[in-house]
Amino acid sequence: MRSWSSLAAGALIALATVSARAQEPFKIGLILPMTGPFQSTGVQANDAAKVFLKQFGDTVAGRKVQIILRDDASSPANTRRIAQELVIQDHIGAMVGFGITPQALAAAPVSAQARIPMLLVGSGASIAVTKSPYAVRVGQTVGQSAATIATWAYKHGMHSAVTIVSDYAPGYDAEKWFSQAFTAAGGKVVEKIRVPMVNPDFAPFLDRAKNDKPSTIFIFLPAGEGAAFAQQYVERGLQKSGIQLISTHDVMDDDLLDQMGNVVLGMVSAGPYSAAHDSPMNKKFVADFEALNGGKRPDFMAVFAYDSFRTIYRALEATKGKGDGPALVAAMKGMKFESPRGPIEIDPRTRDVIQNIYIRKNEKIGGHIFAVEFATVPMVRDPGAK
Ligand code: PHB
Repeated sequence: MRSWSSLAAGALIALATVSARAQEPFKIGLILPMTGPFQSTGVQANDAAKVFLKQFGDTVAGRKVQIILRDDASSPANTRRIAQELVIQDHIGAMVGFGITPQALAAAPVSAQARIPMLLVGSGASIAVTKSPYAVRVGQTVGQSAATIATWAYKHGMHSAVTIVSDYAPGYDAEKWFSQAFTAAGGKVVEKIRVPMVNPDFAPFLDRAKNDKPSTIFIFLPAGEGAAFAQQYVERGLQKSGIQLISTHDVMDDDLLDQMGNVVLGMVSAGPYSAAHDSPMNKKFVADFEALNGGKRPDFMAVFAYDSFRTIYRALEATKGKGDGPALVAAMKGMKFESPRGPIEIDPRTRDVIQNIYIRKNEKIGGHIFAVEFATVPMVRDPGAK
């Protein structure tokens, strides 16, 4: 049997380790697709980390912060392995990232087991936040934008629709919430089409949609895929057919709008962020982002990453830099602050973001194409939240 004194010594060592840890940097694992089909999300989010560090510094609540960037190349098996390594070898205090929902789902068990906050940047499927009690979604759900554009479209004379979505979880959410809101308003969804998640050939799907003669085609694709779609939309003669194209903002990504070209002018989409958002905070964010990243403008993934870091810093302040996972998540619940996209709030029950969804129209400003916001639906919750 161990003596009291050796037990006390053990306790002291444990205490010493805890306080040594407290002096160590607070490490944030930034797990992103820096290569592969979703690399634009990784690059934008990492570029936003640079802006965040420039504006807020690398110390918070007396604690040094270190960001460790790892590329998962959009493979869930990589994501899981990287998350485990970051927890076991690097002793991270939080994870940020995940370009698409399958990545978030792969990392969630690691977050749950290690009791480490995971902040969802790219994942827009409702389900992702439910997979770890330490998951917090500062970005978006696809349902927020899909339901909002459905209601808007019906009110503006579009009474029949074909939906085209990416064939995976956030696409199913987009299809479901668009259809539900559109039908509730009085509209009819005449066909629901799902396209492959990576490098889809849209031509056959667009031909099908055109033959249905709906008043609108609604589309959701994850960030980075809109440009190929716009090209085929024109090639298949959809633009001249009188069928209005509407989408979630992901298709009209700031990263791609100029590349998509004049064919997208006038198109309407719904979403939480446009680089043209008119606020002093956003103007500063865009200016700092452009200055640090060779003149490139930020997109919504950049803002989601930037706000994720702000959420962690605020939680570290609230918990005096201790960095305990459950305490950090408790501090994140109900958090409210102004973002470059407008006011945001973390629902204390679901850990999902509540935010304005803007209706935007693509227009040229100073020779560049922007999604210009012209109507606001305030503080929208995820329609799929349980
Ligand atoms: C997702 O995988 O959930 C996802 C990715 C990119 C988006 C939206 C949703 O733009």
